[in-house]
Amino acid sequence: MLDSTTLDREADEAGMITEAVVASFSQTGDARLREVCEALTRHLHAAVRETGLTREELDTGIAFINAVGQATTSTHNEAILLADVFGLTTLACHNDEAWEGDEALLGPFWRMHSPLTPNGGSIIRSATPGRPLEVAGHIVDRAGQGIAGVEVDVWQASPCGLYENQDDTQSEMNLRGKFITDADGRFGFETVMPAGYPVPTHGPVGGLLAHQQRHPFRPAHIHFLAWKDGYRTLITQIFVQDDEHLTSDVVFGVSDKLVGTYARSDTDGEAAYRLERTFTMREGETHLPHPPIA
Ligand SMILES: [Fe+2]
Repeated sequence: MLDSTTLDREADEAGMITEAVVASFSQTGDARLREVCEALTRHLHAAVRETGLTREELDTGIAFINAVGQATTSTHNEAILLADVFGLTTLACHNDEAWEGDEALLGPFWRMHSPLTPNGGSIIRSATPGRPLEVAGHIVDRAGQGIAGVEVDVWQASPCGLYENQDDTQSEMNLRGKFITDADGRFGFETVMPAGYPVPTHGPVGGLLAHQQRHPFRPAHIHFLAWKDGYRTLITQIFVQDDEHLTSDVVFGVSDKLVGTYARSDTDGEAAYRLERTFTMREGETHLPHPPIA
């Protein structure tokens, strides 16, 4: 009978420690939890064997995980950032059976209770630099019919590179809003052209990116979360077509279908832009994600 007292180096080499750990999950009541824990165990153990990980290196990793938790507050979610920069969030999106390239990761900055704003209204709630942008959205079903009464949350960083919750100079909920589609499934708002921004680098994930000599930038985008009973919640981002970081997004969130056309439409000689975009929602189970920050 294999137990922890008999697990020596020989047993390890034969993979018996892994099997013993996996066997210890046999009473898990939740079958999915058991499946995920088993797979994590096999892959983590394989990584430890492949790299010959030392005790000291494991300690460093544990300190890193602790630091990720300690850096997480009600206004900043370092763990989501960690999952994002390892590509895990995007991979999980792709795993979804319904994924057709038009959904994207939620990111760490969605807040519930954005101000309900009339269609055509502005989400600029305090002085914000940047060129004017008008967004005209249309939400349709798989048959192309507009869906009325969809709640659409939108949020974006200020062109200074920060979301309002990261920046005391912006008013509460600046560049965030909630819209409800009209009888034809349309919604729209005024804002400023989004700019690319660095993910937060003040925490341990920023330190890791520096070690890896990776830039911390996301290409410019606006986030959309569309929600209505009877439809799968649509979470997506629409990227600016000529951003220099489209092919090197630090969180691997760009797909071809997510690149928008932010068309220049100057008025009175002033540079201005317009984004028209159709979003397709599928019938299905509705759920709102857990907000990453308060
Ligand atoms: Fe973002």
